[in-house]
Amino acid sequence: MTSGARLLLIGPPGAGKGTQAARLASAFGVPAISTGDIFRANVANQTELGVKVKAIMDAGEYVPDDITNAIVADRLRESDASNGFLLDGYPRTPEQVAELDRVLAAEHEPLNAVVQIEADTDEVVSRLLKRAAEQGRADDTEEVIRHRMSVYAAQTAPLIDLFAQRGLLVTVDGLGAVDDVTERILSALAGVGVVA
Ligand code: AP5
Repeated sequence: MTSGARLLLIGPPGAGKGTQAARLASAFGVPAISTGDIFRANVANQTELGVKVKAIMDAGEYVPDDITNAIVADRLRESDASNGFLLDGYPRTPEQVAELDRVLAAEHEPLNAVVQIEADTDEVVSRLLKRAAEQGRADDTEEVIRHRMSVYAAQTAPLIDLFAQRGLLVTVDGLGAVDDVTERILSALAGVGVVA
């Protein structure tokens, strides 16, 4: 059973989920679990999973739910997640929400909060093109970035209402300095009783 913070980060590509996940995980003393990072590590190591998902990721599509759900369920069973976790980029579809609900009901406690990081399209495209120039991530071409944005809008953005209906949603402006965004998130979480 978990007793620490159980948090999700949701927001469009480039909103700053990964950046903030590392800081929040450290503040709460829980692991940051990024499905994107897990998939990228598998692609880099050319594992069976990596070979399967590379073309999907390069195209900016979502990895099928059965694959993604199995990876997260396994990861949440690792001992470092027993006292809480911060999920970055999962769940992204209704089927992933249903699976997370099932795993939490069976093996953990309910979520404490879902943090939505907002950032407008021009800002995220410019952030990701900058990252493309610096790091060369395969899915950071302008065409794929815009496709990732539309996949997010169609498949993931509708989940925000669901989390709001569950009384879990905390929405934070993701523009401005990274430190300021972290402070905003910590203060918004404290406002709903989730204290680091
Ligand atoms: P994933 O790696 O999660 O990519 P994403 O959602 O497109 O998000 P990004 O990593 O691009 O952005 P971010 O919001 O994390 O921002 P970051 O902090 O990096 O997923 C990649 C792929 O994996 C998916 O397309 C899909 O194929 C697959 N996948 C993953 N999860 C899946 C799931 N659940 N189901 C199915 N498929 C899945 O910041 C972006 C940039 O901006 C960085 O350079 C950063 O330094 C910079 N930055 C951050 N904050 C600021 C700031 N405040 N000001 C200026 N710059 C900033």
